[in-house]
Amino acid sequence: MALILQNVALCNNTYKMTVSMPTSSDLGVSGQFYMIKVSPEHSCDPLLSRPISIFDTDESNHTVTFLYMVVGRGTELMSRMKQGDELTLTGPLGHGYPHFDTDVTLIGGGVGAAPLYLFAKEHKALYPQRKILMHIGFRNENEVLLTDDFAALCNGVKLNVGGYVTDDVDFESSSLFYTCGTMPMMAAAAKHASAHKKTLYVSLDTHMACGVGACLVCTCKTQDGTKKRACKDGPVFEASQVYDAEKGCFYE
Ligand SMILES: Cc1cc2nc3c(=O)[nH]c(=O)nc-3n(C[C@H](O)[C@H](O)[C@H](O)COP(=O)(O)OP(=O)(O)OC[C@H]3O[C@@H](n4cnc5c(N)ncnc54)[C@H](O)[C@@H]3O)c2cc1C
Ligand code: FES
Repeated sequence: MALILQNVALCNNTYKMTVSMPTSSDLGVSGQFYMIKVSPEHSCDPLLSRPISIFDTDESNHTVTFLYMVVGRGTELMSRMKQGDELTLTGPLGHGYPHFDTDVTLIGGGVGAAPLYLFAKEHKALYPQRKILMHIGFRNENEVLLTDDFAALCNGVKLNVGGYVTDDVDFESSSLFYTCGTMPMMAAAAKHASAHKKTLYVSLDTHMACGVGACLVCTCKTQDGTKKRACKDGPVFEASQVYDAEKGCFYE
C-alpha cells in the first residue's frame, strides 16, 4: 500500500502522481516500473493492474513519482484518485536502463520520455563529467512538458513538435543512445542506430497482465529466436536484441 501525496493534471490528459512508499521498500531505478491497481477498493473492474514507469524517486522522503497519460479506463480511474487515497501497487519490477561511463543521447516521445528523466538524474550523479543530450518530441504544443526538467539535468535539450523526433538526432554524436516512447518511434530510433552501428537501449511498450513473468502476455521474440518476457527480462533491452534491422521492425 502507498499513500497518494499528489495527483495533478499537468497538461492535455497527462497527470503526475507522487506516492509515499513504506520506508523499508526499494524504490527502483530508471526503466523499472510498477503495476498499479486502478480498480476502486472492493472492485475488480478493471481486473488487471496497469504498468507505469518510474518517473522519479526521492530517497529522503521515500516517494515515487509517476507521469501518465489517460488513454483508457484504467488511467482514467487513476486520474480520479485523490491526495490521501491509498494505492495498491507492485514493484519496482523489471530491468532498468544500464549506465556506462560515457556521453549519452536520450530520445523521448511524449509522456514516454518519463523514465529518461530518472535516467538523466542517475547518469549525472554517477558520471558528472559526461554529457547528456536530450531529444524530446510531442505531437502538438498542448502536450509539451518536461523540457525544463530535462534542461536542468542535460547539456542540451532539443524539442520537436509535430514532426519526427528521430529526424533531429545526430546518430554520430554519441556512441550510446537510450529511447522510450511509442513502438514506431523506438523502431525509427533502432533503424538509425543500426545504420550508424551505435548501441541503443529501448523500453518495450507491450501489453502486460501480471507484470511478474507468470502470464506470458508480454512475450516478445529476440534476435537469437528465443522468447523473452518484457516484464521480467525487460522492459529495457538492447535494440539489436529485439529489433530486426533487415525487416525494419521489432521481432514478432
Ligand atoms: C513497462 C511499461 C511502462 C509504462 N509506463 C507508462 C508511463 O510511465 N506512463 C504512461 O502514461 N503509460 C505507461 N505505459 C503504458 C500504460 O501501461 C498504458 O497506457 C495503460 O496500461 C493503459 O491502460 P488503460 O486502462 O488506461 O487503457 P486500455 O483501456 O487498457 O487501453 C486503451 C488503449 O491503449 C492501448 N494500450 C494499452 N496498454 C498499452 C501499452 N502498454 N502499449 C500500447 N498501447 C496500449 C490499448 O490497446 C487501447 O487501444 C507503460 C507500459 C509499459 C508496458
Ligand atoms: S505481463 Fe505476465 S509475463 Fe509479462
